[in-house]
Amino acid sequence: MTSRILHDFLVHDIRGAENPLDRLARPLHDLRISVMDRCNFRCPYCMPKEQFHDNYRFLKSGERLSFDEIVRLSRLFAALGVRKLRLTGGEPLLRANLPDLVGDLSGVAGIEDIALTTNGVLLAQHAVDLKAHGLRRITVSLDTLDEEIFKRMSGGFAALGQVLSGIDAAIAAGLPVKINAVIERGLNDDGVFGLLEYFRGRPVTVRFIEFMDVGNRNQWRPGLVVPSGELAARIHERWPIHPVSQNYQGEVAKRWRFDDGGGEIGFISSVSQPFCGACSRARLSSEGKFYTCLFASHGLDLRKPLRGGADDRELQQLIRDTWLARSDRYSELRGASPDSGQAGNSGQARKIEMYYIGG
Ligand SMILES: C[S@@+](CC[C@H](N)C(=O)[O-])C[C@H]1O[C@@H](n2cnc3c(N)ncnc32)[C@H](O)[C@@H]1O
Ligand code: SF4
Repeated sequence: MTSRILHDFLVHDIRGAENPLDRLARPLHDLRISVMDRCNFRCPYCMPKEQFHDNYRFLKSGERLSFDEIVRLSRLFAALGVRKLRLTGGEPLLRANLPDLVGDLSGVAGIEDIALTTNGVLLAQHAVDLKAHGLRRITVSLDTLDEEIFKRMSGGFAALGQVLSGIDAAIAAGLPVKINAVIERGLNDDGVFGLLEYFRGRPVTVRFIEFMDVGNRNQWRPGLVVPSGELAARIHERWPIHPVSQNYQGEVAKRWRFDDGGGEIGFISSVSQPFCGACSRARLSSEGKFYTCLFASHGLDLRKPLRGGADDRELQQLIRDTWLARSDRYSELRGASPDSGQAGNSGQARKIEMYYIGG
C-alpha cells in the first residue's frame, strides 16, 4: 500500500498533471522549442561557415511546425509535467510573428514560465511586443564587447551595437535579462573582464558557458575549454565573489555574487561539472522531432503522427514512452570511452546540430 501511494505521488504532481520519471528518476519539467533552424549569425562554435562554405540545408517553411502545432504539443507536454518553455533556435526572432506564439503559449494550462534565447540583433524592435504577449524573461547571447572579436565570434557580423540596443530595450520593457557568453580559450577569455565591467551594477546576470562539443562541425577540442573553476578564480582576483545557493533544484548555472554588491554572475559548466543528474529538459526541433538530450543523435518524429491525424492520447503516449525510456547522460560519460569526444568531436556518432535542436 505504501509503495502504491509513493508511486502515485511520484507520477502525479499536486496540480494533477502526470509526471513520468525517466530511467534515472528525472521528471520532465522544461521544454525547449526551436522555432527556427535558420540564423542570421554564423558563430564558429555553432554554425561555422568558412569550413563548409555555408553549405547548410534549412527546412522549408511548411516543414517547420506551425504555431498551432507547437501549441498543441506544448499542451501535451504540460499535461506530462512541463512547467517552463524556452523558445530558441537557430535565431527565434527570425520567425515571423513570434510574439503571437508567446501569447498562445501563455494560455496553455500548467505553463508557468516562458523564456526566449536570442542573439539580440532583432530584439530592440520586438522587446515590448514580446513582453506584452506574456514573455517572462530573456537570455541574450553575447560573448564579448570587443568589436573585432565579436565579428569573429558571430561569423563576420558587425552587429554589436544592435545587440546592446536590444538588451537595453528588453530592460526598458521590464524583462529580466541574462547574458550567455560562450568562452573559448585564447579567443575571448580575456574579454570576460570587459563584459563584467559593462554589466556590473546593471539589472543583468552574465553567465559564462564552457565551450561544448555540441554538433559535429565546431572543431571542439578539450584544450579550448576554460573550466569554470579557473575562470571564477581569475574573476575573483579582480572582483572578489562568493557562491550563492541555487534558485531551484536542477538549475543549470552555478550562481555567484560580487562581494561589493556589484550583482550576480553564473557559470554553466557542462564539460567540467556535468549536470545530467538533474536534467529535466526535453527539446523539440523546428520540424517536430522530440529529443531527450542536447547531445542526441536521434529524435522521435512527432510531426508525422501529428499531421497524420493522431489524437491527443496517442501523441501523449509517444511522448510519455520516450521520456520513460530516457537514460541520456552524455556529459557525464564524456571522456569515458575513446568515442566520447575527449579527443575532439570528429570521430563519434553524428550528433544533432545545436542550431537545429535548439540551445
Ligand atoms: C544555439 S543558440 C540559439 C539561440 C540564439 N540564436 C542565440 O544565440 O542565443 C542558444 C545558445 O547556445 C549557445 N551555444 C551554441 N553553441 C555552443 C557551444 N558549442 N558551446 C556552448 N554553448 C553554445 C549559444 O551561445 C546560445 O547562448
Ligand atoms: S549560437 Fe545562436 S546566434 Fe550563434 S550561430 Fe548558433 S543559433 Fe546562431
